[in-house]
Amino acid sequence: MRILGLETSCDETGVAVYDSERGLLAHTLYSQIALHAEYGGVVPELASRDHVRKTLPLINEVLAKSGSAAADIDGIAYTSGPGLIGALMVGASLGRSLAYAWNVPAIGVHHMEGHLLAPMLENNPPAFPFVALLVSGGHTQLVKVDAIGVYELLGESVDDAAGEAFDKAAKMLDLDYPGGPQVAKLAESGVEGRFIFPRPMVDRPGLDFSFSGLKTFTLTTIAKHKLENGLPDDQTCADIACAFQTAVVETLVIKCKRALEQTGLKTLVIAGGVSANKKLRADLEIALAKTNAKVFYARHEFCTDNGAMIAYAGCQRLLDNQHESLAVNVKARWPLDSLSPL
Ligand code: KG4
Ligand code: ZN
Repeated sequence: MRILGLETSCDETGVAVYDSERGLLAHTLYSQIALHAEYGGVVPELASRDHVRKTLPLINEVLAKSGSAAADIDGIAYTSGPGLIGALMVGASLGRSLAYAWNVPAIGVHHMEGHLLAPMLENNPPAFPFVALLVSGGHTQLVKVDAIGVYELLGESVDDAAGEAFDKAAKMLDLDYPGGPQVAKLAESGVEGRFIFPRPMVDRPGLDFSFSGLKTFTLTTIAKHKLENGLPDDQTCADIACAFQTAVVETLVIKCKRALEQTGLKTLVIAGGVSANKKLRADLEIALAKTNAKVFYARHEFCTDNGAMIAYAGCQRLLDNQHESLAVNVKARWPLDSLSPL
């Protein structure tokens, strides 16, 4: 079964063709980062308009790259939530309409299920059951995954998502949007241990997270050391980025270990934009090796938003004969544990 996948939930237009026999045939991504950078964050209306401009040309490009004609496509998968309604509407209405025109089934994919399954596109995919840490710009969740669609929420952020915290810390340090990769880069030249930021909620039992306190801590540390231009000197900024990243990563590692202990599982999957963070990957590898557990993640480009994960997730559901009616449905909010199993 050959599936065209469309991702338009936020600020990236991702398109891919996935074949259930031959794997990923082609994928492409257009990022709107430059468009939103001057506003310091995503402007929803501009995002929707850019998806309108880009999605169809990218579909043509990816079909050609994958050596597929329209007649070779057996189904269309598009992100139908959670995300920005206008942006979601672009991919969903285009995907649903194309499926109608080509007389093939369509499936609306949960964006976080897409992230969660992205490591399945790698050579050595994880086996069920596992614990998944979903860390993106909008979500920080620990989920017990028994099979596709069988999800039990173990814990989540009670306030900011991990990616959101990175983005806000970046803004305070006057770094460009999206801030996660910029904070990570600046942290490389920081001195570990000059500042010690709190590890929120690790002393309490349970698997929930809270990152908003780190934001305040970052702000007050910057205020304490700022010069006339409103920022501390370059080295101090790097030291703050380093302390911030270490606090977030260490908190995530502690909770992941706790989730594995609690479930008795030995496999952890990390997915979503923050799973691209090198320190998070390295620290988890070291921590889990001590308990004979293993961490799996997608290649860098499939950690952040992409069409390949949507094509893959949609393909699994279409193979199970699940599909949408003719209506175009999108959801800004959509709990992961409400999905149906295969
Ligand atoms: O999954 P994603 O592309 O979009 C959402 O579904 O939200 O995640 C984007 C988030 C942003 O907050 C971005 O700053 C963060 O992932 N991010 C990172 C890194 N790369 C992306 N955070 C920390 N370190 C990184 N290397
Ligand atoms: Zn995402």
